Amino acid sequence: MQTHDQELDELMICRLDSGRKTVDPCTVVIFGASGDLTARKLIPALYHLYEEGALPQPFKVIGFARREKTDEDWREELLQGFRKFSRSKEKDPLKWKEFSLNLHYCQASFDDLDGYQKLKQMLESFGDERLRHNLLFYLATSPTQFAQVTENLHKTELLLKEDSTGYSQRLVVEKPFGTDLKSAKELNHALTRFAHERQIFRIDHYLGKETVQNILVFRFSNYLIEQNWNREAIDHIQITVSEDMGVGGRGGYYEDAGALRDMVQNHLLQILALTAMEPPAMLEPEAIRDEKVKVLRSIRPMTPEQVGRMVVRGQYSGGEVHGRSQPAYRSEDRVDPASNVETFVAIKLWIDNWRWSGVPFYLRTGKNMPYKASEVRIQFKRPPQVLFAAQCGILLDANSLTLRLQPEEGITLHINGKIPGASMQLRPVRMRFSYDSEFGAYTPEAYERLLLEAMAGDPTLFIRRDELEVAWAFVDSIRDGWGPRPMSEDEFYPAGTWGPAPADGLLQRTNRSWRNPSPK
Ligand code: BG6
Repeated sequence: MQTHDQELDELMICRLDSGRKTVDPCTVVIFGASGDLTARKLIPALYHLYEEGALPQPFKVIGFARREKTDEDWREELLQGFRKFSRSKEKDPLKWKEFSLNLHYCQASFDDLDGYQKLKQMLESFGDERLRHNLLFYLATSPTQFAQVTENLHKTELLLKEDSTGYSQRLVVEKPFGTDLKSAKELNHALTRFAHERQIFRIDHYLGKETVQNILVFRFSNYLIEQNWNREAIDHIQITVSEDMGVGGRGGYYEDAGALRDMVQNHLLQILALTAMEPPAMLEPEAIRDEKVKVLRSIRPMTPEQVGRMVVRGQYSGGEVHGRSQPAYRSEDRVDPASNVETFVAIKLWIDNWRWSGVPFYLRTGKNMPYKASEVRIQFKRPPQVLFAAQCGILLDANSLTLRLQPEEGITLHINGKIPGASMQLRPVRMRFSYDSEFGAYTPEAYERLLLEAMAGDPTLFIRRDELEVAWAFVDSIRDGWGPRPMSEDEFYPAGTWGPAPADGLLQRTNRSWRNPSPK
């Protein structure tokens, strides 16, 4: 029997779409199908969508890659990957079998036009116009190959820019999308020669996370929250994305990226945009993306001298994380022993608009920190110095609201309360909403949502060209500020700590401090 609360919850569910997105039958073509991403993320995500009945019928997946293998070899390889990496390791063997019959392999190299002809024949052999012409090209390749693949798809008429047939071809592009503003613009230019902007879906997997999507719902569906989401009530905002691992086997990639390009340019600025944007005029993709771009454009530019004061970088030295010893970044595989690449960044920035004038935002991210977590912490102002505040002074905590994006997803409000008893004693108490206890353990992978949205042609959760370019301009200004200066002693932090000491200084100068995420 249902409880009163359960009945009420059901009555109150507001469904904005009629359940699922409509996705027309289509073929997903994965370029770079032998790579890690395909086995770890893409195929498990597609399988879960299939299992839930969210994929269209019919659908096909073609892996396009250079290595010689048959459909059977590829399916077997993907099954092994699925067993190792997927969120539901216990698969239903019959379901997998059914699903895997839709997986095909096209052996070819990206620069060989004959390979694309072979792909075309394969698509035709499916004997269904929709599978032939509704195409989602997933570019899981090195960015240096994006332009070539797109051009060859155009030359072989697999990708049509002007679409008058009622079918759609779309490109999904993985990060890194450029290494600076100039290269991002060149890449944009190369892709838009053969595809409209509306056909390009630039991935930032953080936007596929439930909790990140919930930022907008939380802000714009709650009067209480949005009324206080501004400089009148808020002292400052902290965004932390910490990781408890080093670069592992990705030293080669990381040497060209560093934390600023790997994390800040995309994930942290996206979280910032959703946290700080104005309400969109309507719940439409372009209206939402317009507001994100607007707020990113309002970030106050920094001169190189200001970068010196407002941005701290760091690199991990040897240390211990969760009791296990970790090598220094400079001793990692495929890393220059004298590398100056940052594995940690902390930034103080200002958003020059009406809502946020005078409210500092602090962003930080780093590898090999004590704990992996992503959080947005809204730190409210102190109460006026009367009554309890007058008596308690700094012992009376200011209120804060923490959006825990991962793990142990939830939202916690810190308020002050009276400790029960005859004497008057106050201390902070917590009000916590936890996703798990409210909705049960529901953990779809970000890629499931993103693939489905791309198949349905909804660009809300993808990065638009102008958004990308503003983010790169900001990141470039920081890199210019750093210049070629080598890492100094105080920029190193032992693995297993919350970053170099100057990162604390960034807040301490104004009597603030970082709140480090901890297990809930
Ligand atoms: C990726 C970065 O985009 O995000 C990685 O390239 C990082 O360096 C990863 O580890 C973090 O993602 P998540 O989902 O584990 O927080």
